[in-house]
Amino acid sequence: MPAYRIPFGLVLLSLAPLPLASEASADNSCINCHKNPAYFAQYPKLHEYYQQWTASPHKEAGVTCDDCHGGDASAEEIENAHMGVLHMNDRQSALHYQRQPDTCGQCHRDKQRQFVQSKHFTALVAERTAPTCSTCHPAMSRRPELRNIVLNACRTCHVEGNADNLPLIADDAEHIFNQLNIASGLLGWTRIHFESQDWPNGSQDRVEDLEARYEAIVDHVHQFDLQQTADEAADILGALREIFEEARSARERQDQG
Ligand code: HEC
Ligand code: HEC
Ligand code: HEC
Ligand code: HEC
Ligand code: HEC
Repeated sequence: MPAYRIPFGLVLLSLAPLPLASEASADNSCINCHKNPAYFAQYPKLHEYYQQWTASPHKEAGVTCDDCHGGDASAEEIENAHMGVLHMNDRQSALHYQRQPDTCGQCHRDKQRQFVQSKHFTALVAERTAPTCSTCHPAMSRRPELRNIVLNACRTCHVEGNADNLPLIADDAEHIFNQLNIASGLLGWTRIHFESQDWPNGSQDRVEDLEARYEAIVDHVHQFDLQQTADEAADILGALREIFEEARSARERQDQG
């Protein structure tokens, strides 16, 4: 267990403390220049990317353009600032499909560690058509419905007639992600309930233990071992239904007495 509490619903990231968004952006030349409203007309696509970033959890967390694209965020001149900002197709680019796991993994360490154990990663480094982080995740923005985006990604490759003859796992994946969704809902309810009762009978340890297990499952997802994920999801759902039932019957007794 980590020494601090994980607010429910947040992802546990192995992060060095990040500056607040406002501090991070204030003297960041990428942001200062890219926010220029004139670009709306001059470079509409570029402006759109800037707008997406402003609505993203990365912006909120103080993660700026240079953290992912490289470059020198202390340089005011465009040529100097763009030094090292390479096109994604360039193998040296921090966002080249083979290098994304390292780049994103600087902050999402657990996801990276699991992902490099997956068949996806093996296929990726073998230069087959395989997903990298941004294939499944919009990196610039938080578009709504992360789960749908991710599931649609599975279906673009794991379909009948795919030249690689990939297994048809999309329906299984959907079922498993639904299970995780239910687990996440029960976990939220359980925390709110026991917290409101001042944590009777060691319930705090049990809830926190379940929260840590849930976070670990989301990390395991990136191994793309669906059987293991399904087993873990079933296990945690069993444990959650038990504690949920306990809470519910305690509340019924309370209501009656
Ligand atoms: C002084 C203004 C200015 C600064 C500072 C600046 N940019 Fe840009 N950036 C632009 C303009 C204008 C374009 C579009 C024209 C071009 O590519 O030169 C652009 C284009 C880009 C592109 C798209 C390149 C492509 O090939 O499509 C990326 C990515 C980018 N900038 C990232 C950054 C990052 C990261 C930083 C900070 C390290 C940064 N920029 C700093 C003005 C700036
Ligand atoms: C969390 C990492 C991350 C951050 C932060 C980020 N980007 Fe990106 N950016 C990406 C990824 C990954 C792609 C390609 C896939 C996609 O569109 O999601 C991309 C694509 C782009 C593109 C189009 C492709 C290209 O190179 O021409 C532009 C332009 C761009 N970003 C500019 C910016 C600017 C400007 C900022 C800051 C305001 C920024 N990005 C912040 C990861 C990031
Ligand atoms: C400098 C650190 C840093 C880098 C680099 C970084 N991230 Fe993040 N990322 C964060 C932080 C901080 C958050 C917000 C914390 C949270 O959501 O719990 C976040 C949130 C996310 C989320 C959750 C947002 C959502 O829509 O629910 C995803 C997915 C994500 N990042 C993917 C990526 C990908 C893909 C890359 C690489 C292209 C990347 N990140 C690069 C720090 C980083
Ligand atoms: C083949 C698709 C796929 C790839 C590739 C992938 N992910 Fe994920 N990612 C998922 C799925 C599925 C989830 C779990 C969504 C859920 O909670 O149901 C997830 C969840 C996440 C989250 C938590 C988002 C949240 O809900 O808060 C982060 C952060 C993340 N991934 C980062 C990464 C990084 C970094 C990489 C590259 C090393 C990566 N992912 C590669 C499919 C993918
Ligand atoms: C860009 C294409 C692509 C996308 C998108 C994609 N996959 Fe895959 N997937 C592959 C490739 C390639 C392999 C490796 C097949 C092999 O080597 O046997 C693979 C293998 C797998 C395997 C291992 C199957 C086995 O034989 O054990 C699972 C499970 C899997 N993918 C699940 C998913 C899930 C879940 C998603 C969506 C979140 C997804 N994939 C998205 C291309 C993709």
